Order: sequence, then structure tokens, then C-alpha cells
Amino acid sequence: MSSHGEAQPMEAARSGPLTGTAEVPGDKSVSHRSLILGALSVGETRVTGLLEGQDVLDTAKAMQAFGAEVAREGDGTWSIHGVGVGGFAEPDRVIDCGNSGTGVRLIMGAMATSPIAATFTGDASLNKRPMARVTDPLALFGARSYGRSGGRLPLTIIGAADPLPVRYATPVPSAQVKSAVLLAGLNAPGETVVIEAEATRDHTERMLRGFGAEVSTEVTPEGRVITLTGQPELKPQTIAVPRDPSSAAFPVCAALITEGSEVLVPGIGLNPTRAGLFTTLREMGADLAYENEREEGGEPVADLRAKFSPDMKGIEVPPERAASMIDEYPILSVVAANATGRTVMRGVKELRVKESDRIAAMADGLRANGVTVEDGEDWWIVTGNGPGSVAGGATCATHLDHRIAMSFLCLGMAARAPVGIDDAGPIVTSFPVFVPLMERLGAAFRGAGA
Ligand code: S3P
Repeated sequence: MSSHGEAQPMEAARSGPLTGTAEVPGDKSVSHRSLILGALSVGETRVTGLLEGQDVLDTAKAMQAFGAEVAREGDGTWSIHGVGVGGFAEPDRVIDCGNSGTGVRLIMGAMATSPIAATFTGDASLNKRPMARVTDPLALFGARSYGRSGGRLPLTIIGAADPLPVRYATPVPSAQVKSAVLLAGLNAPGETVVIEAEATRDHTERMLRGFGAEVSTEVTPEGRVITLTGQPELKPQTIAVPRDPSSAAFPVCAALITEGSEVLVPGIGLNPTRAGLFTTLREMGADLAYENEREEGGEPVADLRAKFSPDMKGIEVPPERAASMIDEYPILSVVAANATGRTVMRGVKELRVKESDRIAAMADGLRANGVTVEDGEDWWIVTGNGPGSVAGGATCATHLDHRIAMSFLCLGMAARAPVGIDDAGPIVTSFPVFVPLMERLGAAFRGAGA
């Protein structure tokens, strides 16, 4: 079942060549943060290029429930009148974050140091995901939380009336945990410090600085030490959201594995904390060029040109790169199935607690379609036999996970027999125009959304 109604089965058949330009939507991480920081500043923040996927729309609704005025003014153009740090009102309804771990975890952080209560819930996928990783550090500020066993949603947080600043070393490499602590630190006096052993995406730090907060990052033997000075007045901003590298990954990878393809994906954010997939693909021998490299809104951006790459080889992906490509392992495994040899992915335990257990979901579907996959708790290995070698012919369970759904549709585009998915519904959470965009390039899809 889709998160929003009936399941929408689809299938992808051998396609191509894929040609043309793929204008992918705005970055999901930056979109959530634009709405939340806009809601925490005083005055009007204007955002262009906002991702209008369901995850972000749920965050927009949540910000309204906490008292901000949030209005859509046109395609991707939004205005937010914020209430200021510490100005959140107590919502009079349950906050439903749908499928979005980023939405719920960041919002829990943002409200946890205000003297209000809020109850959070989500869909069947989100309600299975661990929340203690956020509620534990929020308790150090003085917030109390009451959830289901294992700290799962639905969950109520009673924000701290007299929050204390916190020094917290994140036990898992997670930008969501780091961001929740920093957002909570906004309304605590003094300095809140987050220490992360491995660098995770740094959009929150960059954007907080843009909104006028004092945030410093120091690289020490302990890891990255991020220090935020609490109780700033955040000044509203004009934000142009870059296009999402995690969405760009799908047309790029589909072009690499589909015979005769050449696709241009313009204006992609290449923040180094996000661009690990593209480095990995080039190491595998992908014909992937960065063109027109530039800076936009403080983020490095380039146009990506991807061409069919028949000679890609399996590689060992360095585990220390995992955080910078954590959402891209499902589509990387599809490329690996069309490369020659073993692609070894280690240090990726976090994949098991995403929208689905992504190692299990991909391993099951790849095996059903004739691909050799070995896996353990925090690693997996995909063995490919070259371009066009995947048998296909099976239908894969997507487990309410948008990236699993899109990855298997890409698999089918280069397989000998069509690959099906049980539900394309979740794709709207991050990439609502995926199906028409891929069809315009030359994808052969059949089913509900096609
Ligand atoms: C995100 C962080 C990552 C990522 C998610 C978006 C963010 O999750 O998987 O899609 O915007 O902060 P973790 O922080 O749990 O690794």
C-alpha cells in the first residue's frame, strides 16, 4: 500500500537510449531546513525552487501548526512569516510527518526547548523508525518524551521550559540527529556543542549562518566540533534551493547503464557532504562530467553530463564515504549489477533504519531479478556481469520507500525482461515528477503512474 491510498504497481522495460535534459526538483534536505529556519526567524523568508514533494509539504503544514504563516505563491516559490526563536505556539493537532524522518526529527529538535507539548506521528514506515537517537539528546536540554516502545512514534514531546545548553557526541553518523540538537540549541542559553566522528551533510550549519546565527566548525582529533551560540535573533532570508543530488542520481545512473544514452542534469548541488555517489561512479569508470562548475547560494553547483558507460568495474567503496552518499546506495547497487565484478559496500549499517531496511529491500529484489548479492549487518556486495546482463522478470517490494521504488524502475530499464514494483506511490515523497521526467528521456514504464 502506498502511504497515500491504493498501491500503484508499475513496471519498467528495457529502454533507451535515454537522451535530453533532466531538470530534477529542489533538494529535500535544504527544502525542509528552509521552512523550519524560516519559521524560526522574525519576518518573511522567501524560498524558490522548494521541493514540493509530500515530505516537504508535511513539514510546511507542521510549521503552520506551530504558528508560522506559510504560503505557496507559485511553482516552488514559497513565503514563510516566522515566529522567531522560542516563538513556536503549541499545536492544537497531532503533527503528521508522513514518511519523513528528516521532517519529524528536525521539528522535534526545533520545538524541544520551548514550553509547549506536541504529539508526532507518521506513516507505517516512519512509525517503525528509531526516534531515541533524537529524544535522548533532547532530554539533556530538559525535554521529556513519551513514545511507544523503542522510542517509536506516535510520540509526545514536552519541551523544556528552562532549557540547558548541551554538549553531545552523536553515537551514529546522522545529520538528522546533529540538526535536531542544533535546532534545540537555538532556544537554549549559552553554547550548544555537537561532536560528530564522521562528517555528515552540513546544510543546517550553513543555513544557520545564513540566517545570522553564530556557528563554528572545528576539525579536531575527536571529530568535527560544531558550536552554536544560543538565543540568536534569526534574520529572514531569500533562499534559492539547489537541485537535489539524491534525485539527480536516478537519471544519471539510468543513463550510465542504458545503451546509447546521453543525459544532461543541470544545476545540481555538489556540496562535498552529499556528492560521494558521483565520485564513486567515476572510480567505477563512469563517463560522468561536471560542466559549468559554479557557486550558487553558498553551495557548489554543476551541470552533470552522463553517458552510457559499458566498461564500468566493481570497486570497494571507502566506508568513510558512506555519509556523503548514504541515500544513494540503492541506486549504486543497480549500477553495480550492470558493472563487471564485485562492488563492495561496507560501514553502511544506517541503511537498515532508513524508510525501509534498504540493504534487505535491495538484496531481495536484486536476487529475484537474477543478481548475485551477499549481505551482512553493515555490509553488502553486489556482483555484476556487465551492461545489459540483469535477467529481470520479477516484481519487487518497495516497503513504502521512494528510493527503493525508483531504483528498481531504473534496474528494469537495462534488464533483459521487465522489472516490476508493487507500489510507485511513495515516489511523491521526494521526486513527484520522476515518472514523466524519466519517460521524456526515453524510459519505458507501464502502470498506474505511467
Ligand atoms: C538527511 C539526513 C540523512 C538522509 C536523509 C536526509 C537530512 O539521514 O538519509 O534522507 O536532511 O538531514 P540521517 O541523518 O539519519 O543519516
